[in-house]
Amino acid sequence: MEALRVVGGARLRGRVRVPGAKNSVLKLMAAALMVPGTTILRNVPDIADVAIMSELLRRLGCEVVADRTDGVLLITVPGQLEHRADYDLVRRLRASIAVLGPLMARLGEADIAVPGGDAIGSRGLDIHVRGLELMGAVVTSTGGYLHAAAPSGLHGIDYELDFPSVGATETLVTAAVGARGLTRLENCAREPEVADLCTMLAAMGVPITGIGSDTLTIEGASALAPVEHVVVPDRIVTGTWAFAAAMTGGQVTIDGARPEHLSLPCATLRAAGAHIEVTPGGMCVRGPDRPHAVDAVTLPFPGFPTDLQPHIIALDSIAEGSALVTENLFEARFRFVAELARLGANVKVDGHHCLITGVPRLSGAPVEGTDIRAAAALVLAGLVADGVTHVMHVHHIDRGYADFAQSLRGLGADVDRVRVNIADIVG
Ligand code: EPU
Repeated sequence: MEALRVVGGARLRGRVRVPGAKNSVLKLMAAALMVPGTTILRNVPDIADVAIMSELLRRLGCEVVADRTDGVLLITVPGQLEHRADYDLVRRLRASIAVLGPLMARLGEADIAVPGGDAIGSRGLDIHVRGLELMGAVVTSTGGYLHAAAPSGLHGIDYELDFPSVGATETLVTAAVGARGLTRLENCAREPEVADLCTMLAAMGVPITGIGSDTLTIEGASALAPVEHVVVPDRIVTGTWAFAAAMTGGQVTIDGARPEHLSLPCATLRAAGAHIEVTPGGMCVRGPDRPHAVDAVTLPFPGFPTDLQPHIIALDSIAEGSALVTENLFEARFRFVAELARLGANVKVDGHHCLITGVPRLSGAPVEGTDIRAAAALVLAGLVADGVTHVMHVHHIDRGYADFAQSLRGLGADVDRVRVNIADIVG
């Protein structure tokens, strides 16, 4: 299998550039389905999830052309679209559910394979479904597929989401674009990626208010036109570089970063002893010799992001003192803690709390990346471990980080992508 081989010890130094956000571009690609013609996306990251979403759009009838070196994606949407997302793609890309709202808006019908459980939790769809039903859709689940249809069309609703779910907010905002009348959604997710989607919809001609707030109103059934849109920079990739600098006692300038999307992670890193400076094009993070332990509680934006929870546990594992990290979004995300313990971290999980007592040094070992963020955080842990760490299941990292190993080498780390035979690297 493929692994990242990390030799610990380097202090990261230099510059990196952050591309567009995975969790935005996938939704923007899906939103392109709502209007025939060519949508142009810029600042698109060269990651596996974009390739899978491109394949899904092709199967729906679109032409998708990527210029990888320039981060440009051209999506040409035909007059006639298919309405089915098959299991072979959905099982590889849970975010395939992002086509549900746009297909409902455009066709009034969608068949989407139901994503199964994954490494970070059950991930329900009840809020998506409830909202669509209130809009007039009939939603059934048979044979592993969610079938939604609104033969008489969708209509606008007043709806307060039970929880500010990112995915449900996006499904309902996009479905509302094709609904008759006004939709008013309360308790919406406020993540920058949701705001990015709403900004693109507004440019397409959708009258939408409240962008970036928890209350969105969408006037449906307006005339739409395809647009050119620049994807918002990836705040989780930004955070990954910031934690890498802080943990290794290095100094990294992150070009393209939007520090205002990372207020709480930056405040947390400062409390850990890092120095963070906002630069004209992004931010610069300088790490302390050894970080102080810092607590964190994951919450919807603007709270501490669950996608940086493994990173803060990795930082706390080598910090001075003890810290408590609480996970409120994805119950199974602590699976990665057992892997961190293999590197010598002193970590104890109790329900959705994790208590970490820092040790001066970790010690390299083979570990398994269980999801994108866990795998990235294990690489950071490997950077501060004595000896060699192999992080297995690199395909998780490929889903969300473009050229991760190469970027790390550019900052002075000793990291390589290697093929390993597990028997050869285990003691
Ligand atoms: N939930 C429900 N019912 C619903 C919708 C959500 O119970 O109808 C629950 C989920 O089970 C979960 C919680 O609500 O426990 C949060 O789910 P949410 O819908 O907010 O998240 P998501 O849309 O599935 C996106 C990102 C995640 C990120 C979360 C939270 C994408 C493709 N994924 O997931 O990103 O962690 O928002 O910010 O946008 C990642 O990039 O590594 C990743 C997992």
